[in-house]
Amino acid sequence: MKRTDLSANNISKCFSEPGEDGLLYVLEDMDFEIKEGEFVTILGPSGCGKSTFLNILAGFETANQGHAVCCGEPVRGPSPERAVVFQSPVLFPWMDVKNNIMYGLKQTGKKKDDAQRITAEYIRAVGLDDFDNYYPSQLSGGMQQRVALARSLILDPKVLLMDEPFAALDAQTRYSMQQLLLQLWERNRQTIVFITHDVEEALLLSDRICIMGKRPGKIIEEIAVPFERPRPISLTGSGDFTQLKSHILSRLLV
Ligand SMILES: Nc1ncnc2c1ncn2[C@@H]1O[C@H](COP(=O)(O)OP(=O)(O)OP(=O)(O)O)[C@@H](O)[C@H]1O
Ligand SMILES: [Mg+2]
Repeated sequence: MKRTDLSANNISKCFSEPGEDGLLYVLEDMDFEIKEGEFVTILGPSGCGKSTFLNILAGFETANQGHAVCCGEPVRGPSPERAVVFQSPVLFPWMDVKNNIMYGLKQTGKKKDDAQRITAEYIRAVGLDDFDNYYPSQLSGGMQQRVALARSLILDPKVLLMDEPFAALDAQTRYSMQQLLLQLWERNRQTIVFITHDVEEALLLSDRICIMGKRPGKIIEEIAVPFERPRPISLTGSGDFTQLKSHILSRLLV
């Protein structure tokens, strides 16, 4: 068996309810495991605790019970080996594309020439060659998200934690971002945990889908996606695809 890259055992998490004495139980006895290089999506109803769970994997939140383990080490806080990509790109507004992407490399003490060469490669990989001196406010939402993706990937993280990264994009940009992500993943085989509300996106991208139930959330079903890669968009019209999609929707809507 392959080494497990990231796991969470028996995680429970509650928050105090604002203005009240009570507690809101968000996750309960949640177990999760992802192998090195695997691409797993998490689907679940709004408010079931997906982002909370991802934040625990990232080290931004601590669980009340249980813990996450990354590459054999307990997660005690954020780490560059676990990059996080959010729905809204988090960029420095005062830096242009090039400097936003290069920022993390500079922090690691990379030599200037090397940092510039590697940054140019990533700018090319996300198709922003002609925009390297643009500022975030001068870019479209999709372009900003490409900068955010390059900015995370340039540090060569072992694990990518993505919270609805393409949810705010139009269908066409979303599709090109999905293709870009798959291309980069095929090259570097990061371990990817990807949250989405879009069942088709989950079926087109991932090796495995984890479905969470209503709050307090935990995984109620796991599905190994049976479709070979590459998965063309025409796959979405096939009988097997629509059948699996409707099964997943029925689990989400109960
Ligand atoms: N810091 C916090 N303090 C109090 N309650 C919180 C906090 N963060 C999240 N919650 C509550 O935890 C529950 C789960 O929130 P979470 O953001 O994890 O859901 P989600 O599954 O990501 O939903 P969505 O699909 O809408 O993004 C919600 O009821 C939310 O109100
Ligand atoms: Mg969320």
